[in-house]
Amino acid sequence: MPERVANGSTEGVSDVGEVLVGADELSRRVRELGEEISRDYAGRPLLLIGVLKGAVFFLSDLMRYIDIPVEVDFMAVASYGSATDSSGVVRILKDLDTPIEGRDVLIVEDIVDSGLTLQYLLRNLGSRNPSTLEVCALLTKPERRKVSLPTKYVGFEIPDRFVIGYGLDYAERHRNLPFVAVLER
Ligand code: IMP
Ligand code: MG
Repeated sequence: MPERVANGSTEGVSDVGEVLVGADELSRRVRELGEEISRDYAGRPLLLIGVLKGAVFFLSDLMRYIDIPVEVDFMAVASYGSATDSSGVVRILKDLDTPIEGRDVLIVEDIVDSGLTLQYLLRNLGSRNPSTLEVCALLTKPERRKVSLPTKYVGFEIPDRFVIGYGLDYAERHRNLPFVAVLER
């Protein structure tokens, strides 16, 4: 069997720029976050809400390091805007399967950029009266933030660059890269 090449693809390789967060660094930090969440929510069954599609990769790794009772559900949202900028006008494409009233809920996101998508999600989910509602984001770009948000758990702060890999896409490509890299364009 051939070995998998480091960039996960032989096509479009030229789009993949500088690696900002390597695979080892990702798994180390995801493990830390899982352990921290397990401590913080001990004795409180937790519901993770993954935001499709980007958070799937992070969420599935994170869950493996959570050693308390935990369930998972997903939401899919579309944010109007260009390929690289969201507008804050958000549409729900897939809603949760279950009610969250009275539950301890943690939103799992791939990246917080302007913060507008997350602001919408916090308002929408908050109105369903969960017992607690917090955010766990793998990446954040503080320089791009348009609204201030409570992000309880953050993996890495990154500079204002458009990144791909580990779930993050550019026009649906590159989610399969095992690291986070800058999009070369
Ligand atoms: P926001 O509403 O501006 O915070 O954008 C949030 C969403 O935009 C994220 O969940 C991603 O899907 C996408 N996004 C923002 N920045 C990046 C990036 O650098 N690479 C890939 N997707 C991004
Ligand atoms: Mg996206």
